[in-house]
Amino acid sequence: MANVIVIGLLWGDEAKGKVVDFLAQEADYVVRYNGGNNAGHTVVVGESVYKFHTVPVGILHEGVTVVIADGVVLDPKVFCGELLALKERGINTNRIKVSGNAHIILPYHNIFDELEESSKGSSKIGTTGMGIGPCYADKMSRIGIRISEFVDPQRFRERLSAVIKRKNDIITKVYGGKPLDAEAVFNEYKAYAEVIAPFVTNTAMLLYNASKNYANIVFEGAHASLLDIDHGTYPYVTSSHCGAGGACIGTGVGPTSIDRVIGVVKAYTTRVGEGPFPTELECATGERIRKNGNEYGTTTGRPRRCGWFDSVAVRYTSALNATSAITLSLLDVLSGFDKVKVCTAYEIDGKRVTDFPQDIEELAKAKPIFEELPGWSEDISEIKEFADLPENTKRYVAKIADLVETPICMVSVGRRRDQTIILDAEMLQM
Ligand code: IMO
Ligand code: MG
Repeated sequence: MANVIVIGLLWGDEAKGKVVDFLAQEADYVVRYNGGNNAGHTVVVGESVYKFHTVPVGILHEGVTVVIADGVVLDPKVFCGELLALKERGINTNRIKVSGNAHIILPYHNIFDELEESSKGSSKIGTTGMGIGPCYADKMSRIGIRISEFVDPQRFRERLSAVIKRKNDIITKVYGGKPLDAEAVFNEYKAYAEVIAPFVTNTAMLLYNASKNYANIVFEGAHASLLDIDHGTYPYVTSSHCGAGGACIGTGVGPTSIDRVIGVVKAYTTRVGEGPFPTELECATGERIRKNGNEYGTTTGRPRRCGWFDSVAVRYTSALNATSAITLSLLDVLSGFDKVKVCTAYEIDGKRVTDFPQDIEELAKAKPIFEELPGWSEDISEIKEFADLPENTKRYVAKIADLVETPICMVSVGRRRDQTIILDAEMLQM
């Protein structure tokens, strides 16, 4: 039995969905513990593509119970849409459990997300516009609405009308916007509450008992370590705890129950939204990676910024999360480049720096120092064994493991479940 956390080690979209889906084959529970529908987790099974924003990807495995835990912010409308889409594809959704402690995203959160972004002008964050930051801000201000209140119509109505009154004051007086009609919001959302009510569970106790009974639990991290509210590239981050510690914070599961942390990174780097990105390639090479890797956001469709692998950043986040092993994804995207580059250090104010800077202004000044490696031209997307990869590909993978000081347990060479090469099966054992 094992309790394993899967997290992104950079700025998101590392193919965490695929890794969680792989582990879910032997899991009893798959748990989302942070963020909301700003996440976009994709799983490809044969010809079928599944995109998840709120429901954990483990739902694709029949015997798995999926949990939306306390630390998540849930958009009821989006969740109900996902439920319907899953049912239409013949998937049994009765295996979903939702924590009564999770907070809900309401229309004023989306409105504030947009208003705050546009009022920031050129210093905007580049959020997904899903209302995530404003919802977490309300949670911290202790005016948020939890699922347990939401599914009780009387309490929901009272809380909603009190909060909307305050929100309308700001919308109209500060931003000169149109006020929301509390009654209209209530009438729409009480229908979602009726759908969600049967899923509500004390998920912290559910997971505690599961753990006591030797269940296998996968914690499906959303976003990534450098988008973490505390440890990321603040303020260009999301508003939740995206690191491994977030799995404990967001579920109530104690740290001593965790067995392993699997960090997911791409064979190159991407970022969506604003913020420093030392290895970014604003040139034809970046464009080529974007095209090869189909680097467009699952949630917003925005083109992702692309660059070479950054071992300074990954060594930092791997250390920060006590990462047991790394899975390297989208390696096939680099096929066909004559040379591939890996950033081994930064130059900041004329000095060579190998530790990832904590200060955002320092990071913004960082110029990458690259090591160039020979590329490979072969199509590697159907290779199943590490030994069968081209020599230069193996050299590239070994170089990365060495630089980030963390073993690599899996390499992904395509979107499908079976396009996976295992290097260390024990690390991936549940
Ligand atoms: P997954 O789980 C990539 C980024 C946004 C923006 C910043 C803040 O699919 O890897 P927010 O709407 O969260 O307040 O936006 O965080 N961001 C992500 N980028 N993948 C994600 O999730 C992301 N979730 C948030 O682009 O820069
Ligand atoms: Mg994504």
